[in-house]
Amino acid sequence: MQSLKGRVALVTGASTGLGFGAAKKLIEEGAVVFITGRRQAELDRAVGELGSSATAIQADAANKADMLRVADIIKFVHGRLDILFANAGGGHATPLEELTEEQIDRELSVNIKGVVLTVQSLLPVLRDGASVVLNASITADMGLPGFAVYASTKAAVRSLARSWTTDLKHRRIRVNTISPGVVPTEGYSHVQKLSDDDIAAYATRVATEIPAGRVGTAEDIADALVFLASDSSKYITGIDLVVDGGITRVYAGRN
Ligand SMILES: NC(=O)c1ccc[n+]([C@@H]2O[C@H](COP(=O)([O-])OP(=O)(O)OC[C@H]3O[C@@H](n4cnc5c(N)ncnc54)[C@H](OP(=O)(O)O)[C@@H]3O)[C@@H](O)[C@H]2O)c1
Repeated sequence: MQSLKGRVALVTGASTGLGFGAAKKLIEEGAVVFITGRRQAELDRAVGELGSSATAIQADAANKADMLRVADIIKFVHGRLDILFANAGGGHATPLEELTEEQIDRELSVNIKGVVLTVQSLLPVLRDGASVVLNASITADMGLPGFAVYASTKAAVRSLARSWTTDLKHRRIRVNTISPGVVPTEGYSHVQKLSDDDIAAYATRVATEIPAGRVGTAEDIADALVFLASDSSKYITGIDLVVDGGITRVYAGRN
C-alpha cells in the first residue's frame, strides 16, 4: 500500500542527488511532487525520468521572489502542500587558510537563508498537520577537516527545526531534520570537484569505517524521508534522524 497516496510534496534542489532520489520515492509512495533547482536542463532531465507525477519549477532556494512564485504555483494547482523537503544545499571542504568570502557567503546563503526562505514562503500553502523535513548533515556533529562553515550551516538547520517545531505547533505542522551520512552524489563531482576515481577510492575507504559496511545511497535517505513525511511518524517532531549506517554513533574499526 502506498503511504503517501494523494499527498502534494515539494522537494527543493531535486534535479540530482538526494533530492532527486527523494522525489522518486515520494512518487512511488503515491505523492505528486514539485521539484526545484537552478539549472533548467537538469530539471528537464529529472522530470523526464520522474514522469507525469513530477513538475519542475526553476527556482533558487535562496531567492525570496523565486520561492514565493513556487508557493503561488502549488497553491494554484493543488491549493495546499502536505510535504516539504527543504533539501537544496551543499558545500565543500576547504582548508581554513584558503576559505574565501565568496564560499562563506554561498554556503550560508543556500544552506541557511535558503532553508528559512523556503519554509517561510511555503508556510501559507502548507496545510495544518503538514510535515516539513530539512536536510541537515552528520558533519554538524563532527570535526571533519575543511568543513567548518558547511558543518556550522547544518548545525543551524537542526536548530531551525527545533525552533519551528515550537513556532508551528499551533498548526500541528511537524518539523524534523534528516542528517545523511556519506552518500556519493552528483554533488561530489560538480560541487566538490572530485574525479570519479577519487569518489570511488573515498567510498571504498570510508565504507570500512561504517558499521553498515557501505556508503549510503539516495534511496536510504529517501526511505527516511518517507517515514518522516508519512503518518507513521505522526508523534515525531523536532528530531534529527541520523541516516549514516552508524558512522557517527559507533566505531566500526577498519576491516
Ligand atoms: N551527499 C551527501 O553525502 C550529503 C550528506 C549530508 C547532507 N547532504 C545534503 O543533502 C542535500 C543535497 O545534496 P546532494 O549530495 O544531493 O547534492 P547535489 O547532487 O549537488 O544536488 C543538489 C541539488 O540542489 C540543487 N541546488 C543547489 N543549490 C540550489 C539553490 N540555491 N536553489 C535551488 N536548488 C539548488 C542542485 O541543482 P542546481 O545546481 O541546478 O540548482 C541539485 O539539484 C544538501 O543540502 C547537502 O548538504 C548531502
